[in-house]
Amino acid sequence: MYFALMNRWMRATTWLSFLITLAAGTFGPLIRQQAQTKEGLQALAAQRDFYIGAAIAVDPLRREPSYRETLQREFNAAVAENAFKFDALHPARDRYDFKDADLIADFAQRNGMKLRGHTLVWHKQLPAWVTNGSFTRAEAIALMRDHITTVMTHFRGKVWAWDVVNEAMEGKDEPLRTDSFWYQKIGPDYIRLAFEFARAADPDAILYYNDFDAEDMGTRSKHVYNLVRDLKQRGTPIDGVGWQMHIDDNFKINGDHRKNARRLGELGLELSITELDVRTKTDGTPSAKQSAVYRDVATFCLTEPNCRAVILWGVTDKHSWVPAFFPGYGDALIFDADYRPKPAYAALRDALQTAITAPPIITAASFAAGKLTVTGQNFDRKSVVWINGKPQKTEADKAQPTTKLTIKKADPAIAPSQAVKLHVQNPDGKLSRVFDYK
Ligand code: G3I
Repeated sequence: MYFALMNRWMRATTWLSFLITLAAGTFGPLIRQQAQTKEGLQALAAQRDFYIGAAIAVDPLRREPSYRETLQREFNAAVAENAFKFDALHPARDRYDFKDADLIADFAQRNGMKLRGHTLVWHKQLPAWVTNGSFTRAEAIALMRDHITTVMTHFRGKVWAWDVVNEAMEGKDEPLRTDSFWYQKIGPDYIRLAFEFARAADPDAILYYNDFDAEDMGTRSKHVYNLVRDLKQRGTPIDGVGWQMHIDDNFKINGDHRKNARRLGELGLELSITELDVRTKTDGTPSAKQSAVYRDVATFCLTEPNCRAVILWGVTDKHSWVPAFFPGYGDALIFDADYRPKPAYAALRDALQTAITAPPIITAASFAAGKLTVTGQNFDRKSVVWINGKPQKTEADKAQPTTKLTIKKADPAIAPSQAVKLHVQNPDGKLSRVFDYK
């Protein structure tokens, strides 16, 4: 009896251990994969004081658990694809409707996501009561002020950055687009007025000008630069420029994009990639180039000191605007129609990971007139130079923050010929090797 029982027990435990092994082998990678993606892109971005976001459409947010779960797991920033636009928020002259927008704003707030407000003043998605109405210039200005003030007051404290004016450029010789209600009724000054109304409505919000094809050094970008430079010079409250970047998989980051980012930085403006999607031909063969474009655009923004965020224009290919607007193109985002991560997702994750894990390296140091300059690689705008084991007040070079750090006044003061030991600590804690400066 006893042996029979033992046999049965042995057989049972053998079976049990076999099943456990099988499960670990089968589900292990999935669990690990879930564990790996449990962190999501946002956890990497947060280590870098960086924001990776997505445009949210209200219908899938309401109806699809996978949509919500993907947003919660992967992104620390968000923007409404349509729910914050004039036609959605202000459907009648005396009526505002915040229902859909509040759903997105509350979701973002509950999930610790920085929220971008898109967009207050645009020539598109205006309701008929505006475009068909007859307004004097003064009435149009009052209408714009009322819209901006009401909307920004409603979202005060919930919106991180606003696209105050969107796509005002024509892109040809005449800088400003003239087929705009706002241009036609108010004149070119509508842009300055919009920013002034916005600052008055929410002094804490970051105020952006947002446009497409504004990332290189071409004509349209020149018009955008001239616009924001003139606004800054007039004292207009503007804080940043958004590059939409609705691009295809032939796009290549080059030196012009850095030049453009730097000239905006020199105006004291921050930069965000605000609507990134990388469309590919939907001819049945997945793009082999899309991942590299996502990786390079993210790396570009992660290594430009004034670039704050990369916002994707959607979550999944299932709900992208691209196929309807670019026939024959699609698959532009990083999750496929079944919410599976695509190679572009891994490329984005690697870009974020690399931007975090590369330790700082000191290659040279020079000391003159009481100022110590440290050059090297993988520095960060928040890196700290240590001298003989003491952290110093460190400034990253505005133009070359990842390669040049300066200490204006060493503490304690060091004699010009004194040998000192230097090392650099990055915000992610990574340390350089000690550099002996003699
Ligand atoms: O809300 C109506 C709905 O009531 C109606 O039944 C339906 C019938 O077509 O249309 C719905 O409106 C659509 C709207 O999206 C909301 O879904 C419009 O037709 C459609 O044209 C509109 O497209 C949006 C487009 O802006 C409008 O220009 C896209 O979803 C949106 O992704 C796109 O986003 C813009 C940015 O705001 C600015 N930068 C360019 C970017 C891509 O165009």
